Amino acid sequence: SSNQMWGGRFAAGPDAIMEAINASIGYDQRMAAQDIAGSRAHAAMLAATGIISDSDAEAIREGLLTVLSEIEGGKFEFSTALEDIHMNVEARLKEIIGEPAGRLHTGRSRNDQVATDFRLWVRDQLDAAETGLLALIDALLSQAEAGADWVMPGFTHLQTAQPVTWGHHMMAYVEMFGRDLSRVRDARARMNESPLGAAALAGTGFPIDRHMTAEALGFDRPMANSLDAVSARDFAIEFLSVASISAMHLSRFAEELVIWSSAQFRFVTLSDRFSTGSSIMPQKKNPDAAELIRAKIGRIFGANVALMMVMKGLPLAYSKDMQEDKEQVFDAADNWMLALAAMEGMVRDMTGNREQLEAAASSGFSTATDLADWLVRETGLPFRDAHHVTGALVALAEKKGCDLPDLSLEEMQAENAAITEGIFDVLTVQKSVASRMSYGGTAPARVREQVARWKEVLG
Ligand code: ARG
Repeated sequence: SSNQMWGGRFAAGPDAIMEAINASIGYDQRMAAQDIAGSRAHAAMLAATGIISDSDAEAIREGLLTVLSEIEGGKFEFSTALEDIHMNVEARLKEIIGEPAGRLHTGRSRNDQVATDFRLWVRDQLDAAETGLLALIDALLSQAEAGADWVMPGFTHLQTAQPVTWGHHMMAYVEMFGRDLSRVRDARARMNESPLGAAALAGTGFPIDRHMTAEALGFDRPMANSLDAVSARDFAIEFLSVASISAMHLSRFAEELVIWSSAQFRFVTLSDRFSTGSSIMPQKKNPDAAELIRAKIGRIFGANVALMMVMKGLPLAYSKDMQEDKEQVFDAADNWMLALAAMEGMVRDMTGNREQLEAAASSGFSTATDLADWLVRETGLPFRDAHHVTGALVALAEKKGCDLPDLSLEEMQAENAAITEGIFDVLTVQKSVASRMSYGGTAPARVREQVARWKEVLG
């Protein structure tokens, strides 16, 4: 038999394969709550504008709540023949309330309906991402505060560069996740317009009130162009782009945690709660959560590219290709939220190994720049020459198998006669970080300032 929603012109029902490729109910049932909220707002508006009777609208709105409770209670039987969440809900509404159910779809199409539902769904996810990012930032601030003056090596090329503080390193991620947070908020503000009432593509002749439905659903305003309203998926792509950038930050940090927790680095000890063991090697404690974050991020990037590919060749307005938007966004959202939560848990629970961090900071000639800077400051040597002298002292220390502070004053003076005892003051890693007082620098005092600023910003 033909479809009860659109089968008027059809003599035969769809082939099983047609039904299989067409159906989205397997995944878009995740938008049930949004679909019902949209329909309830639409029905109220239809009554307020006199398009349907108050009693029909009341029956529809009540019936939809019954449908929602059936779905939430796991008592709803989804039908593939009914294609998607929109038609599943409406068909069930008809079973429950009868004839008035058929009036719900007045002045509306599935095209504006799905665009509305999906915007509501993505909006909820942006709110969840905001919560997740705030929690992660909070965990990082705790780490930064506790270790504002712990010294660790800072790297470039993953080679020891200059000493930095643990707090400074944590705060670098606070800045990154803070920008992610502002991107989330920007995306939310931009996407929060209602497509409802754009109907199939051209608007409708019914005297609907799109401002009313927009307001009821928490949108800032109705979208201004009906063709755009049903065609646009840039809101979903922006969600995926914001997620991708944030995921990239999560992945970089995850990579650092994998390296830092290795026996060779021992910069951090991850908690048992966020580690796993090996079934053969009894000594193992693996940073699986970090590795999985690093890996899952690939799916988020993939979803971003996939949806761009789906959309890039579509003429206006709706094409069924667009049904492929949802699985990508659902999967990316799930994995982004999971990665944020796992990272927050790892950061809260991890222990920075202060002694090991400091020992690592002291090796690798990490204060060579401080030595060169001292020569500039105290002897008036041009920086380029100071760099050269210091390079020679590094080579000497390397040859002797010692660190810079272990060289004798005589050995140093052999390279540059103007060097005095005072130089040893700047060769310790503590002195080095304390001296980096430039705005945004790694000095503990600067780190504490930034922690305080962020706490104020976040309230
Ligand atoms: N399940 C569809 C989707 O997700 C709903 C819109 C269907 N519109 C249509 N004209 N067939 O895109």
